[in-house]
Amino acid sequence: MTEPRPTERIFFALWPAPEQQQLWADAARAWLPPGAGRLVAAPSLHLTLLFAGEVGAERRRCLEQMADAIRLSPFVLRFDRAGYWRRPEVAWFGCSRPPAELLDLVLALSSGGKGCGIAVDDRPCAVHLTVARKVRKPPPPATLAVSEWPVTRFVLVRSRLTPAGSLYEIVRSWPERTPPGLT
Ligand code: 2AM
Repeated sequence: MTEPRPTERIFFALWPAPEQQQLWADAARAWLPPGAGRLVAAPSLHLTLLFAGEVGAERRRCLEQMADAIRLSPFVLRFDRAGYWRRPEVAWFGCSRPPAELLDLVLALSSGGKGCGIAVDDRPCAVHLTVARKVRKPPPPATLAVSEWPVTRFVLVRSRLTPAGSLYEIVRSWPERTPPGLT
């Protein structure tokens, strides 16, 4: 009998600098009533570009090669909305007008991901940064003070599910920057 090949759960994301993560973690805490859900810890705050799911080594290689061919045009993200989705029970911060460079990046990763055999969600990209999970009731409406995030790289992240929540590890960065870090 052949051994099943190991797989890993990976996704492409934008990963904010620690100071930026802390600002958003503080804004989420100020917004959500105590006990309203599980706040995402500051070092884990990120914006997912393409969720690949469980992949083996060959598919991961294909995804990395596909990302190698993408040239990121730096852009600034302006977070100006705080919202809630009932079904995944998440509270999020978002941009009412995502820049074209971001949409191009998501499109490039999605079509490249499809080429590597990833099941890609074809719904229009809803740019969001999840700030709390298991939020069972809609939080009070809020206006988010606009914060600007200059984006100069995207990353590949490995995620491990643990009873305490997901643990994320940045495994590669485009453009390459050292050192990749545990988050
Ligand atoms: P979310 O923030 O909207 O929950 C790691 O799980 C990241 O991938 C999360 O940020 C999550 O987005 C995103 N993601 C997208 N599709 C997913 C899926 N089908 N299962 C788990 N995570 C998914």
